[in-house]
Amino acid sequence: MLHGPNLNILGKRRPEIYGRTSMKQINDMVRARAESLGCELTIYQSNHEGVLIDNLQQHIGECDGVVVNPGALTHYGLSLRDALEAMETPVVEVHLSNIHAREEWRRTSVVSPIALGQVVGFGPRGYVAALELLVAHVRERDGGA
Ligand code: DQA
Repeated sequence: MLHGPNLNILGKRRPEIYGRTSMKQINDMVRARAESLGCELTIYQSNHEGVLIDNLQQHIGECDGVVVNPGALTHYGLSLRDALEAMETPVVEVHLSNIHAREEWRRTSVVSPIALGQVVGFGPRGYVAALELLVAHVRERDGGA
């Protein structure tokens, strides 16, 4: 799971839009769900596009999918988009806020064309839902339960 720029200050940043839950609390929720689903989860955050890409590349061929909130890189981060595509795994894009109901420039995602799907507007629960949807997709694709 990958968090992009400014998501490390969740809880303090525009709480009227992003809520008061911190990134650590979100990570703890998602980790608990991953454990109950029986899947291994690595979580990483950076404010730098290239560092996010370096981290993704370290996991090529090692992971079954990616849950990502690319932050503002969603709207223009073509290198991150390409790096996600190069993973050759399903990607689920998450946004705390409903980006389609906000400023015009937030309504475009350069990531969604290469994503399996998007979970938007459900706050922290969206990350848990994204993980559940990703795991269900991968297990179904691989012929599991
Ligand atoms: C965000 C939406 C983006 O437009 C914004 O730049 C963020 C957070 C969200 O989770 O709602 O940093 O990805």
